[in-house]
Amino acid sequence: MNTSSLRSRHVVVLGGTSGIGLATARAAAEAGAVVTVVSSNPASVEKALAELPEGAHGHAVDLTDAAAVDRMFARLVAEVGPVDHLAYTAGEPLALMSLDELDVDRARQFFELRYFGALGAVRAAAPHLSDGGSVTLTTGTASARPGPGWSVAASICGATEALTRALAVELAPRRIRVNAIAPGVVRSPLWASMPEADREQLYRQSAASVPLGRVGEVDDVASAYLFTMVNPFTTGTVLTVDGGSVLA
Ligand SMILES: NC(=O)c1ccc[n+]([C@@H]2O[C@H](COP(=O)([O-])OP(=O)(O)OC[C@H]3O[C@@H](n4cnc5c(N)ncnc54)[C@H](OP(=O)(O)O)[C@@H]3O)[C@@H](O)[C@H]2O)c1
Repeated sequence: MNTSSLRSRHVVVLGGTSGIGLATARAAAEAGAVVTVVSSNPASVEKALAELPEGAHGHAVDLTDAAAVDRMFARLVAEVGPVDHLAYTAGEPLALMSLDELDVDRARQFFELRYFGALGAVRAAAPHLSDGGSVTLTTGTASARPGPGWSVAASICGATEALTRALAVELAPRRIRVNAIAPGVVRSPLWASMPEADREQLYRQSAASVPLGRVGEVDDVASAYLFTMVNPFTTGTVLTVDGGSVLA
């Protein structure tokens, strides 16, 4: 993939201090982009900046706080300049909830970061996005292939995919492309709160059910975000990076 068009471009990764987002920020920086990473925990931001190539920027903001997100964009644009490419990878572990134990208030809460956080971030970023730039959101394979207990997670993914298509249409007059990446199971800190034995079992079970026979690594997925940034004719697309899990 030719990523030379990213050289000196400003790439902002919301959720870029861990896992898929950090791998995306690293890949963009290695391609010569000026990178800003954002997440809620100041210590995560510091740690990510220590891992990224010199010259990266960071901000600590809770992406569910719309007013704080507005202020953060004003600040980062003043410091670094307009945003050429925006990636939204912020997320949290989603509890599976079968219907008989589903708590509707908790279900609604799960939309805050993954769906409304993404919508709010694009709204706040839009005035600062360069014409000809891109937005890449994050969904998952749950919408195409939900399991029992996945109604909330599948709905968040479905809503994000619909949002991607709607934003692609709305921002097309400015030649801003909007796409989403749908990862399958990826080995990342997202699963860190699980006991290690359960986590390894999840990876083993997932690998066994995936045609390519393994779970994803963050770099597998990061390259998809770079693809949607650099490909000038891709918009409104959901790019699945899952080792074929939706085929199984
Ligand atoms: N890993 C997988 O198997 C997988 C599969 C399908 C889809 N996905 C989705 O892909 C995305 C990235 O996953 P990942 O595996 O890279 O997860 P991760 O390693 O846990 O990273 C999540 C990032 O989101 C940030 N974040 C969490 N809450 C935030 C908030 N309120 N405001 C701002 N930032 C916040 C975290 O930093 P702070 O803690 O500092 O806030 C962190 O940088 C998520 O949406 C996830 O659901 C992951």
